[in-house]
Amino acid sequence: MTGTDLRHHGDVEATPGLLDFAVNVRVGAPPAWLRAVLVDALDTLGRYPNPTSATAAVAARHHRLPDEVLPTAGAAEAFVLLARTLRPRRPVCVHPSFTEPEAALRAAGYDVERGLLSPPYELCPELVPNDADLVVVGNPTNPTGVLHDPDRLVELARPGRVLVVDEAFIDTVPGERGSLAGRRDVPGLIVVRSLTKTWGLAGLRVGYVLAPAPLVRALADAQPLWSVSALSLAALEACSAPAALAEADAAAWRLEARRDYLLARLAERGIDVVARSRTAFVLVRVPRGRDINARLRADGIALRRADTVPGLGPDHLRVAVRSPDRTDRLMAGLDRVRRAVAP
Ligand SMILES: Cc1ncc(COP(=O)(O)O)c(C=O)c1O
Repeated sequence: MTGTDLRHHGDVEATPGLLDFAVNVRVGAPPAWLRAVLVDALDTLGRYPNPTSATAAVAARHHRLPDEVLPTAGAAEAFVLLARTLRPRRPVCVHPSFTEPEAALRAAGYDVERGLLSPPYELCPELVPNDADLVVVGNPTNPTGVLHDPDRLVELARPGRVLVVDEAFIDTVPGERGSLAGRRDVPGLIVVRSLTKTWGLAGLRVGYVLAPAPLVRALADAQPLWSVSALSLAALEACSAPAALAEADAAAWRLEARRDYLLARLAERGIDVVARSRTAFVLVRVPRGRDINARLRADGIALRRADTVPGLGPDHLRVAVRSPDRTDRLMAGLDRVRRAVAP
């Protein structure tokens, strides 16, 4: 028993019609130029997908070799492939964090241990047992937003251990600071990436794994044939090009300004932000959080409950970073609701 619903995701909380602060993607749909890429790729749908040029583009972007890259149907497929391929004796997931890696390992029959970080949820490598042979950690971490120090992350790696770093949100950090994607010197390191968040592609399913070539081969052997569609591969190649990377970086800088705005409004209200976020959401703790969340929903605003994440409770809520005008609407709603529940 896990005690929490590991398969709960924020999208089910963003019911249409609500002002959405629950979903953690940057944009609701891909930009026009990327839509055009996808439309052009429709002409290739008569053929089975060929990952060669997308793989080469990803490899070039990260200064890796093509045989160290595996395109996947989102980061989610990567977690399933890892769970089906690796044979860990002692898998450990560092929490609070995204729950799918643990869910995939459990579905594959593993007992998963949790390394539970305490507030402010910064990485503490000592929490992981020495003989853990598979360690999964998010960077930056969902839902705390914490960007771990890459040196501390690397301390977790060692011969005989696979270290999986979920970098699904790293492209929301200016300069992808802290990314281990280009590191070929860290033993057993697997980096998982996603195009979902920055490019508005949750429905397309596209991501990739960066790992030593033998691990990539093992994962590829477990992957269903053609599981990454031609459209996904077209998006992957296009989003690995220098112009797309520059666009993502500009968006990451804008996100910082919006996050500062949100943090300032929360601070004015004395709301407890429990971790230092470097990404597209912040984690708050409010007394009577469950009640506040329910009342906000009734008032037309969706936040993401965080009590489905190991180590967090009903007072923890995740708030997406949005434009200042939408943030103002959230604050007005929060003020109304907090007045209503005041003792
Ligand atoms: C931290 C993290 N990793 C991975 C994923 C899944 O990404 P993908 O859409 O590429 O499967 C999510 C989705 O919410 C996430 O929050």
